Amino acid sequence: MNLNLKNQVAIITGSSTGIGAACAIGLAAEGVKVVINYHSSDQEAKKVVKQIKAAGGKAIAVKADVSKEKEVKKLIKACLDKFGHLDIMVANAGLQADASFTEMTLKQWNKVIGVNLTGQFLVCREAARIFQKQGVHKHGRAAGKIICMSSVHDEIAWAGHVNYATAKGGVKMMMESMAQELAQDKIRVNAISPGAIQTDINKDAWDNPEALEQLLTLIPYGRIGQGEDIANVCAFLCSDAADYITGATLYVDGGMMLYPGFADNG
Ligand code: BGC
Repeated sequence: MNLNLKNQVAIITGSSTGIGAACAIGLAAEGVKVVINYHSSDQEAKKVVKQIKAAGGKAIAVKADVSKEKEVKKLIKACLDKFGHLDIMVANAGLQADASFTEMTLKQWNKVIGVNLTGQFLVCREAARIFQKQGVHKHGRAAGKIICMSSVHDEIAWAGHVNYATAKGGVKMMMESMAQELAQDKIRVNAISPGAIQTDINKDAWDNPEALEQLLTLIPYGRIGQGEDIANVCAFLCSDAADYITGATLYVDGGMMLYPGFADNG
């Protein structure tokens, strides 16, 4: 399948590591010029840029906290100054600040809602404004594409992570409402909901054999996911091959959403 993404421009928030880095590398491999956004990991961001350039791609790194409106505006400006336009926003930046519900501090709550939900609102809004102004131009059939990185926890309740699950549930409804509103402008808005992907965010769940065995009981397909599993879906959703898809959530989770606990119970 020819994804035909060459010379499109993408911002991938939170792309110095993990799923974001994989999506940036994957898009760059398809000829997309990418903005690697990061908050604190300067070194990692530089490494991703270097890796993309070494493979013949185009990339810059831009520091910005997506939960802050001013910084988001600076991020967008840096992208337009360098590459001239924007075709793709991957709203990916996210974090966990886990605690039992009764122990959860307001700071932990606000931090997760601020980055994972408000951060996605801010970057999607700025992107949509640009896409509306640009209209459909020479790069593809849509005026722009937005991918919200959600989680299986936009559906599956998650004790000990109420802030995170609440933010992801919010992302799902925000994405669908945006998709409904922006379709008339030829802006496609979709979400990817990863299951357990092997990154730093869930290291505790896979970095020793017992934890991994326990985790695999939740994954019918029998393996933990890799960044590339998400990157492939991201590139597809950004391409014209997905031109009739908007408002959709693709669960990329090895079957976690199938509630495997019910396979021999219930
Ligand atoms: C979380 C991971 C978790 C996965 C499956 C993700 O959204 O960030 O920590 O392993 O969901 O539970």
